[in-house]
Amino acid sequence: MTNFDPETIHDVEGVPIHSVHRHDVVIVGAGLAGMRAAYEASSEFDVAVLSKVFPTRSHSGAAQGGVAASLANEEEDHWEWHMFDTVKGSDYLGDQDIIETLVKEAPVVVREFEHMGCPFSRTPEGRIAQRKFGGHTKDFGKGGPVLRACYAVDRTGHAMLHTLYEVCVKNEVRFYPEFFALSLIVRDGVCRGLVAWDIINGGVHVFHAKTVMFGTGGYGRVFKITSNALANTGDGLSLVLRAGLPLEDMEFVQFHPTGLYQQGILVSEAARGEGGYLLNKDGERFMEKYAPSKMELAPRDLVSRSIQTEINEGRGCGEDGCGVYIDLRHLGEDKIMKQLPQIHELAWKFLGIDCIKEPIPIQPTAHYSMGGIPVDIDCQVLADGKEKPVRGFYAAGECACVSVHGGNRLGTNSLLEASLFGRRAGKSIVRFLRETRAFPELPSDAAEEALGEVERILSADGSEKVGIIREELQEKMMLECGIFRDAGKLEKLTGGLRELGKRFEKIGIDDRSVKFNYDLLEAIELGHMLDFTELIVAGALRREESRGAHSRTDHPDRDDDKWLRHTLAWKRDGRIEFDYKPVTITRFQPKERKY
Ligand code: FUM
Repeated sequence: MTNFDPETIHDVEGVPIHSVHRHDVVIVGAGLAGMRAAYEASSEFDVAVLSKVFPTRSHSGAAQGGVAASLANEEEDHWEWHMFDTVKGSDYLGDQDIIETLVKEAPVVVREFEHMGCPFSRTPEGRIAQRKFGGHTKDFGKGGPVLRACYAVDRTGHAMLHTLYEVCVKNEVRFYPEFFALSLIVRDGVCRGLVAWDIINGGVHVFHAKTVMFGTGGYGRVFKITSNALANTGDGLSLVLRAGLPLEDMEFVQFHPTGLYQQGILVSEAARGEGGYLLNKDGERFMEKYAPSKMELAPRDLVSRSIQTEINEGRGCGEDGCGVYIDLRHLGEDKIMKQLPQIHELAWKFLGIDCIKEPIPIQPTAHYSMGGIPVDIDCQVLADGKEKPVRGFYAAGECACVSVHGGNRLGTNSLLEASLFGRRAGKSIVRFLRETRAFPELPSDAAEEALGEVERILSADGSEKVGIIREELQEKMMLECGIFRDAGKLEKLTGGLRELGKRFEKIGIDDRSVKFNYDLLEAIELGHMLDFTELIVAGALRREESRGAHSRTDHPDRDDDKWLRHTLAWKRDGRIEFDYKPVTITRFQPKERKY
């Protein structure tokens, strides 16, 4: 392998090529996972964080209701109860050894945030306040909902994100805001850095690193109705696939039960945790039919299916009949304004609804990816998806699949997973760097893939439009790979995606400049989305069972004999290849899942 020489890389007309940046650690994504890792590693090493948006605009800031930890600040709780709920919530697909680590370390991670200065809400005694959330119970599911979600009003992610940004600035983490990762440099099983686009000034930058970490978040934007920010286009997943690495359990996509009607913007589960009800258009509290013991605080997969059933059977509200209501009126103005002020504001600003006086129309919204980049407990990315790490490459948070959520994530386990595994990734990187002083060699073709992509798109003059293909993709994913799936819809979608892929090859763009060129960025994002949605659909078609958020109307039962296993999928020469690996079961044997 000859070494990279910026002087010799081929030129793209009008595109500035920046010289190489060198950092011990290069992290992509400034959400909770990325910044928690950055904070950890920056106490000893030189850390850079690249983010598509300004760091404090990262999507972790949109998480509202809380972060799970069995602190038992307000009533009895135990990590074993949290573990049981997480395993059962995952529909037994979560790896139990890793879940045990998650729930045992949760209190430490939350208290660390408290000590960093995170402004959590407080009990009258001054402890971190905790609220109820779906699927979190007392006494191994035998008791009612438990107070386990530590919160900062209904802006928990925002509070945690800003806290981390401050400590990262204090530790002199080098931020590259509005840098968009274009390709990963992995050769011979070693990660050597990445190539990124400078959104503000235009230009290709090569980042040479001893370690790279992805905390690139989710991909809700492949669905028409989503709680996810515009930036959530799953870029990291596509870069990993293009580097020849697999993705795990991609068929498991979470729909949050309560997005603002026709907008998708999150109405936190905290609204139900604080006592909000769900009503259909006839004013019926329909959860009585579907989850009589847990009602609105059943896990998300079940509540979303219940809402969708009401809608499908004609009991939905709104002009298209695709909504139901969340009613908070009985909570009273004081409680709403004290505990749920952001919900009040969002309902007012986006729907003109004053939730003190009227119920809020809502509908399920694509919210979270249970699948992602396979990693081990120390967040090392696995080249074979099983045990062989890619040297120097780490991932954590929503883009990763360490498999604590299995088939369905419990609310508040996401802020926990992102910060806890971000912290673990940081510690793991520190251990690696203490033993690895030299930079890996940077190959001579390090920037070729990224330059080729930019060149292709900037000169694209076909008749197809990126925005139109993207909208069709989002509509199709919603209709044919949403809450309820079946072979017919998924097969149709497979063909539909192939067609969209062909049309993508014939796009044209209007803006050929380099500064703030969103035509270019949106085309790159669409290419990414088309890459990994194929894996979601193919995985969903193969998995002939219903488990967690993956609900097949033509295979309505869970099939542990055949499908108690994780899906691994690669893209090779344009074709998808699958492999499987067993689920780790330790304390809790799979049982029928009832609420
Ligand atoms: O409903 C919510 O506040 C979202 C939390 C989560 O996804 O964990």
